[in-house]
Amino acid sequence: MGESSVGDADFDRAFVPGGACRISGTGHSVPEGRLTNADLEQRVETSDEWIVARTGIRERPMSNDSEYTSTFAIEAGRAALDMAGLQPADVDLIVCATVTPDMLFPSTACFVQEGLGAKNAAAFDINAGCSGFVYGLQVVSQFIAGGGARRALLIGAETLTKIVDWQDRSTCVLFGDGAGAVVVEAADVGADDGLLGTAIHSDGAFADLIEMPAGGSRIPPSTPGIVEDRLPFIKMRGNEVFKVAVRTLAQTSETILDRCGLTDDEVRWMIPHQANGRIIQAVGQRLGLADERVYVNVERFGNTSAASIPIALDELNRAGKIGSGDVILMAAFGAGLTWGSAGVRW
Ligand code: UT7
Repeated sequence: MGESSVGDADFDRAFVPGGACRISGTGHSVPEGRLTNADLEQRVETSDEWIVARTGIRERPMSNDSEYTSTFAIEAGRAALDMAGLQPADVDLIVCATVTPDMLFPSTACFVQEGLGAKNAAAFDINAGCSGFVYGLQVVSQFIAGGGARRALLIGAETLTKIVDWQDRSTCVLFGDGAGAVVVEAADVGADDGLLGTAIHSDGAFADLIEMPAGGSRIPPSTPGIVEDRLPFIKMRGNEVFKVAVRTLAQTSETILDRCGLTDDEVRWMIPHQANGRIIQAVGQRLGLADERVYVNVERFGNTSAASIPIALDELNRAGKIGSGDVILMAAFGAGLTWGSAGVRW
């Protein structure tokens, strides 16, 4: 793979200022069911030692047949609204970032709207792989900056265990289910407060590094033999993704720091997408951030794609570990390829 060409686009141009808004509530919801490394040892030829050493993951939340992506998205959204002191009818935009929607259409955001009773909201999904939440922050903040919304509910929600290939040990050990949500509100804040800025990037030349080949218009569900050929499942060339992930996560994070005039020392929390403990550690080192300022929960959740950053943010917030004025840096990487970052002053 031509690794050097990923992300050759102008990183600086991807930056968008925050747009006078702030996060006023957070929430998350995950299934009660857990899939442990010991469970996986029964399903495929793997071991707890291999999974922990290569990924840092010990267990992941796993949904059952009667739980859908919207089940967790609705619960996470409700928790975020409660924290913000808002009623569902106060929301005028719902954006759900997901690669595992309840159905291809209608959007999962519309199921969330109905589930919450958010009558006054426009609702749609975005698909930006594991970068969906940081993409969503740019989308909702631009709606707010442009006057299209005042109070937005942004949710990252996934049920990835429903599309993993249980015959592929290189991917089935990685993924978990759940949702995280934030309320983003228009606010009378200066350029160095609230949402400071976002940067989002894509490179479709590398689409085949992480994909679910069947189920859309290229290989429709009616195509004979697709399940036998393992096509309606996650496919990932993990080792190639790993190398690109470390470099682009560090670069996009540096874009945020540079353009927001921040130094590494000012970052209270770096919340990276929780794909792999080794990727997280390498990115933290490249950025020169001490381990205790890089939040890691991958050992309990696995990779929950678009949900991973908002779940982590809500964990930190509810644990009282984010103080007023703290700077939070978030960065993600995933299918598309996509990657992106966001800076917030709490
Ligand atoms: O969220 C979207 C972005 N995704 C990511 O960021 C994922 C990035 N990639 C990764 O996290 C890692 O590449 C993986 C965890 C997926 C794999 O780790 P790795 O260190 O890159 O391993 P590898 O793919 O190079 O495989 C090494 C060996 C292979 O055996 P051989 O060929 O050396 O004999 C694999 O067959 O490990 C073997 N292997 C396993 N062994 C035990 C692969 N999966 C497993 C497994 N258990 N589950």
